[in-house]
Amino acid sequence: MIRHIDKEQYTVSHDSQVMVRGDGQIVSEVVSSQAEMLTQYGGVFPKMAEEGHAKAIDKVVSEAILQAGVKESSLSAIAVTIGPGLSLCLRVGVRKARSLAKLYQLPWIGVHHMEAHAMVARLMDRQLEFPFLVLLVSGGHNLLLLAQKVGDYIQLGTTLDDAIGEAYDKTARELGLDLARGGGPAVEELALEGNPKAVNFSIPMRNIRDCNFSFAGLKTQVKLAIASKAITTELVPIKDADAEDRQLRADIAASFQRVAVLHLEDRCARAIEWAQSMSPIKALVVSGGVASNKVVRQRLGELAEKHGLRLSCPPPRLCTDNGVMIAWTGVEHFKLGRSQPPPPYDEPEDVH
Ligand code: KG4
Ligand code: ZN
Repeated sequence: MIRHIDKEQYTVSHDSQVMVRGDGQIVSEVVSSQAEMLTQYGGVFPKMAEEGHAKAIDKVVSEAILQAGVKESSLSAIAVTIGPGLSLCLRVGVRKARSLAKLYQLPWIGVHHMEAHAMVARLMDRQLEFPFLVLLVSGGHNLLLLAQKVGDYIQLGTTLDDAIGEAYDKTARELGLDLARGGGPAVEELALEGNPKAVNFSIPMRNIRDCNFSFAGLKTQVKLAIASKAITTELVPIKDADAEDRQLRADIAASFQRVAVLHLEDRCARAIEWAQSMSPIKALVVSGGVASNKVVRQRLGELAEKHGLRLSCPPPRLCTDNGVMIAWTGVEHFKLGRSQPPPPYDEPEDVH
């Protein structure tokens, strides 16, 4: 299973090979990460990431099979990410999955990355039954979906420009934070030291009564706030900032986070009302990398409760990209008989 990233997102690229049993037990999980590319170059370069995946994939797959203690021939199916993502990197996984499927005569299940973020909630929360509302918040996408069945989703809202994770990552970079663990966690941590009302950022799309998301304007507001506080011209890494400078940055981080989460709450509240008028939903699922943020979890939990829903949020390690979500989504489709022979081509489909 491959996850992709492009340089703009400043997150980590890694191969992950996972085996999940039909009953949801994770029998093996091996990850090969390219996190050092991020700290060394400040981003992920597609060509380098592709080479990294190609170099790692055979070993990662063999280790996962060894760890699980099963023979390839005893597997039921093989699931692989088909997109959305960087085709160069996706292709490495698709090619490997295809060759395994052909060699061991296994059915093949192409998995959509964002569907997997949503479906992994059902692995961790066995009480979660369709229909439910899903908010997906990651580096490349924000989505609000009404999940009716496996593979059957009504889209209520989507990203109009930048996704929230991209805004977190850009803010982290502008604030000179250490990106080693990712921009989002760095902003979340610094925000704890700041006053969330220090900077009066405006909440995006307040007057537009739909469920779409826009974070590009907030990103620009953050940039302007930093410039106006005169910490950009000589921006030093946060570890070298003096106490006053650190406080300014913490205030910006906290104010950014407050408004970013308010935008999520805003769109989500409307989506809940729509969804409740269409369907007997009982739960709100929040997943994707940004769902590992404690403020996001808490605020959306409160929102769900206010509307008589329960929040179902996977544990943080399954909110951020992982192979388990791909394997589990494969299981969900396989159980419904939705697998095929491997495709006769190597190229991933053009998935958005
Ligand atoms: O879903 P994901 O792991 O990868 C994509 O599919 O994009 O999401 C990655 C995004 C990154 O932008 C990362 O900074 C953000 O999730 N993220 C967070 C946190 N942990 C990861 N954002 C805010 N707070 C966090 N704790
Ligand atoms: Zn993701």
